[in-house]
Amino acid sequence: MKRILLIVGGGIAAYKACELIRLCRKAGIAVRCVLTDGGAHFVTPMTLAALSEAPVHTSLWDLKDEAEMGHIQLSREADLVVVAPATADLLAKMAAGMADDLATTLLLATDKPVLAAPAMNVRMWQHAATTRNVAQLRRDGVTVLEPDEGAMACGEYGPGRLPEPAAILAAIERALAPEPEPALLAGRHVLVTAGPTQEAIDPVRYIANRSSGRQGYAIAGALAKLGARVTLVSGPTALPTPQGVTRVDVESAQQMADAVEAALPADAAVMVAAVADWRVNAAPRKLAKGDMESRLELVPNPDILATLGHGPRRPGLLIGFAAETHDVLAHAAEKRARKGADWIVANDVSGDVMGGTANAVHLVTANGVESWERMDKEVVAQRLAERIAHALA
Ligand code: C5P
Repeated sequence: MKRILLIVGGGIAAYKACELIRLCRKAGIAVRCVLTDGGAHFVTPMTLAALSEAPVHTSLWDLKDEAEMGHIQLSREADLVVVAPATADLLAKMAAGMADDLATTLLLATDKPVLAAPAMNVRMWQHAATTRNVAQLRRDGVTVLEPDEGAMACGEYGPGRLPEPAAILAAIERALAPEPEPALLAGRHVLVTAGPTQEAIDPVRYIANRSSGRQGYAIAGALAKLGARVTLVSGPTALPTPQGVTRVDVESAQQMADAVEAALPADAAVMVAAVADWRVNAAPRKLAKGDMESRLELVPNPDILATLGHGPRRPGLLIGFAAETHDVLAHAAEKRARKGADWIVANDVSGDVMGGTANAVHLVTANGVESWERMDKEVVAQRLAERIAHALA
């Protein structure tokens, strides 16, 4: 039986931790709870003990606890440590490596994966300090779920609500799932494009878009983890190269098309790049302000995906992306046919997806449409990589 250590932080969302415990138990996961001082203002140790059918731990200084079970042991006997709700304060302490109560001491002492489900006021969630702390925690390997968006107990509206217990359970189950076979894609070559392209107007100006490259980089990394040889053709991004991935840097769409051609043959290709649809004939010298309007004549760029899809060196599995702000599924189906792709991963980019860390996608294949719930881009990548592995098997 899998076990989690559930740290319940302070906040009105603490009551949802009770439902989470119930769902975990129903899914066959044993739960042991730690309640912070803040959390104890919202739920009682008795409630958590009754639901988890296990003693609840609250204090670092409870000698009885230390005699029966040291905090090191408590932090390590679980397969996964879950923090729900994770308050801004708790996230800050985790990011800083502080250990001034039982919860933070356990989090610092654990050698197990940690999953945090944040819940806080929208301004606190969007504060630069919280953004920094969450980024640090993710770099440290902590899975930080995206909070839900909606009306808050404090009367404001926005992101910051604790994800629904069912969504947290899904994340827990994914984290507890055994690592997929690393050799699933051994011997396979997969080509990934990612990031924006930059189309020079003159030596100092260019046309580009808001793509961060995150989703494509995550996919390249996930494929490499499954043992594939991965070539990542990337437009300009600020991201580190994922482990085990060969990266080819390009700027323009034409350079990307050439690099893709040079990287063939491939068993599969995942075209995630947000390729600029047009370029201009770049001026060799910086244009004067007055010359801009007359010089900006747009020339269509080659469609790299469509060229591959209808070309003689088409990879066995060809996957495109479709970022849309409206009529997402209709556009995706049309794109799949027109570009000769096997799958289209469609997403709605009218919100904060471009440049953000979460994504809600629909997988459009010959068999129809499969909609995935909103999840971290890393998790989208992992799932997609597993699907690719099964399709190529
Ligand atoms: O037509 P649209 O740009 O929406 O198509 C998106 C898909 O096509 C993505 O997979 C993208 O990487 C690919 N694409 C491409 N070359 C282009 C334009 C888009 O490979 N010039």
